[in-house]
Amino acid sequence: MRYSLANHPLLLWLPVAALMLAVWLIPLPGPVHATTRKLTLNATQFEYGPGRVQVNQGDRVIITLTASDVVHGFYLDGYGLERRVEPGVAQQITFIADQAGKFRYRCSVNCGPLHPFMIGELVVRSNTPYWRAIGLVLVTTAGMLVHLWQTGKHKSFKEVIRGTN
Ligand code: CUA
Repeated sequence: MRYSLANHPLLLWLPVAALMLAVWLIPLPGPVHATTRKLTLNATQFEYGPGRVQVNQGDRVIITLTASDVVHGFYLDGYGLERRVEPGVAQQITFIADQAGKFRYRCSVNCGPLHPFMIGELVVRSNTPYWRAIGLVLVTTAGMLVHLWQTGKHKSFKEVIRGTN
């Protein structure tokens, strides 16, 4: 009686599937490209410059907040950061961009008629799905190679189909 994985392809794919699940679920030791990002954000009636900021997940973000006309505020959705900034007195805001996604920053001090429209956007790019996707491709490729290798060990394909044990 011959026992081969090729006769039981499911037995082979079980560990492969388990590995794929592990690659997807295991927490990574930390964001790969995390770095320190220093940004300057100037508040003026009625916008921020720049109005859109992009960082990577895990980055340490240091924002130097300035106001060039009247008193403004800064409130970052999702992170719950708030700061008030007076002209001529720069404020520094430091945080770790640990949540991926798009977050609005808005003025939190009534600075004039268009104050409610003083809104910017922080984009925190997630970098983990990228590495997980690469891991999945590697595991799948390895699984297919092993499967082909096991199947190829048999001379007759019919033998494999019939099952010779
Ligand atoms: Cu600026 Cu309100």
